[in-house]
Amino acid sequence: MADRPFAEAETLDRLIAAHRDQPGGLLPLFHAVQEAFGYVDDAAVPAIAKALSLSRAEVHGVLTFYHDFRRQPAGRHVLRLCRAESCQSMGSGALAEGLKRQLGIDFGDTTPDGRITLESVYCLGNCALSPAAMLDGHLHGRLDQHRLDGLLAATERL
Ligand code: FES
Repeated sequence: MADRPFAEAETLDRLIAAHRDQPGGLLPLFHAVQEAFGYVDDAAVPAIAKALSLSRAEVHGVLTFYHDFRRQPAGRHVLRLCRAESCQSMGSGALAEGLKRQLGIDFGDTTPDGRITLESVYCLGNCALSPAAMLDGHLHGRLDQHRLDGLLAATERL
């Protein structure tokens, strides 16, 4: 866990104030922090823990438990491949392995040129069109290698 000051403490304080008295406010607060900064910096953990009367370990534990929360800034594009049951049964496992090979990174990582962050997601609500992925917030279904190549090519142009 980082023990350095959080760069934008004023914004963080405002977000904490909006959620600190809300029952179960930690997850909404993480979402708000990620929305504001693009990720949840470890440096935000001490202030969040203090405000919510939780230990740093508890806050860190929740932060790392959920795949939804990014702990590093994302690349210019975020590709989220669904790895839940329906998509798995329709071949997302092979697509996942191919993506890792093509991009040279693992899930949760960003390509060295900052172009793509690759993330797992566990159901995009698009099971009827499995396997599914989301690129920069746009849903894509019935993926195969060809379609996935098209999505990757699009990230080179944008
Ligand atoms: S399991 Fe992949 S979209 Fe639902």
